[in-house]
Amino acid sequence: MSADEPQALEQEALAAIEQAADERALDEVRVRYLGKKGALSVQMKGLGKLPPEERKARGQVLNALRQKLEQAIAERRAALQAEALQKQLAAERVDVTLPARPERQGRVHPVSHVWEEVVEIFADLGFSVAEGPHIETDWYNFEALNIPPSHPARQEHDTFYFHANEQGERKLLRTHTSPVQIHTMESQQPPIRIIAPGRTFRCDSDQTHTPMFHQVEALVIDRDITMGHLKWTLEEFCKAFFETDNVKMRFRASHFPFTEPSMEVDINCTWEGGQVKVGEGDDWLEILGSGMVHPNVLKAGGLNPDEWQGFAFGIGIDRLAMLKYGIPDLRAFFDTDIRWLKHYGFTALQIPTLSGGLSA
Ligand code: DAH
Repeated sequence: MSADEPQALEQEALAAIEQAADERALDEVRVRYLGKKGALSVQMKGLGKLPPEERKARGQVLNALRQKLEQAIAERRAALQAEALQKQLAAERVDVTLPARPERQGRVHPVSHVWEEVVEIFADLGFSVAEGPHIETDWYNFEALNIPPSHPARQEHDTFYFHANEQGERKLLRTHTSPVQIHTMESQQPPIRIIAPGRTFRCDSDQTHTPMFHQVEALVIDRDITMGHLKWTLEEFCKAFFETDNVKMRFRASHFPFTEPSMEVDINCTWEGGQVKVGEGDDWLEILGSGMVHPNVLKAGGLNPDEWQGFAFGIGIDRLAMLKYGIPDLRAFFDTDIRWLKHYGFTALQIPTLSGGLSA
């Protein structure tokens, strides 16, 4: 019996399928037998030359064979895929029962930890997290936030500028997280409730300033939003963040171009032995800027100020970390000194949750 006979062909093809060591080999086998010029197709073509009585019977045999081979190939393919997956799983196996290595001295940076704490608190209040680019245009960082080119607030921002591009436009490193307000208004419809934690940059460096620092922006937009909503939100945040109901807050009239009215918020503290303690004593410490979103900012974000109102605030994350965890010098945050990190950092399992405790 030669491979020209269906039976021999079947045996030969099934053996080849079984021996195919991977999907590529299996494909070759498929082409060899079932492809346009494959062995089975050649036999099919030969049917025309047979006398009609034989042709029918032979045709049925060949069709059945085709189905059988197709099924065998599909089964082999599934088996090969399962095998490949098992191999990959075995190769990527991690023994999660291994003890943590004691020589690992890395810690979660206080900024990362406080960032997570802030996200946790606001997530619980129904806020979601938004992001924006570090490299911004003048429009997003200033103009859309009601800070036109001649505005004195621009000087306060000590902006890092890039060289002008071919169109004469100078990009910049965002000096605050407020541009995320505009991006958010552009990308989603109110009601909006977001916070935007992230890096910010200013050309400034001393004991309380670093060229890169962190802020968290908050933006709420809806119908009938009032200062009451803003005050309540800030009170809830402060109580949750400092983990005490006793923290006293003072709201002071202030000025920001992107809010009207604007206020700065202070919390009470003491300075015993040169160390600040929050939620005790009669001294005041400024922690954030806030206000009702200026109509011009709503317009820049494509919203009708007669229809929508909102509040916004911005907090320094590094400053929050210094206050809550008694860290005296901001510059040490970015010195990457392992001894400092061991002292002030958090272990990987100290994930802040409201149920388990933020700083626990
Ligand atoms: N963007 C301000 C800054 O970096 C902080 C700020 C103040 C943000 C008031 C706000 C706000 O959203 O309402 O100095």
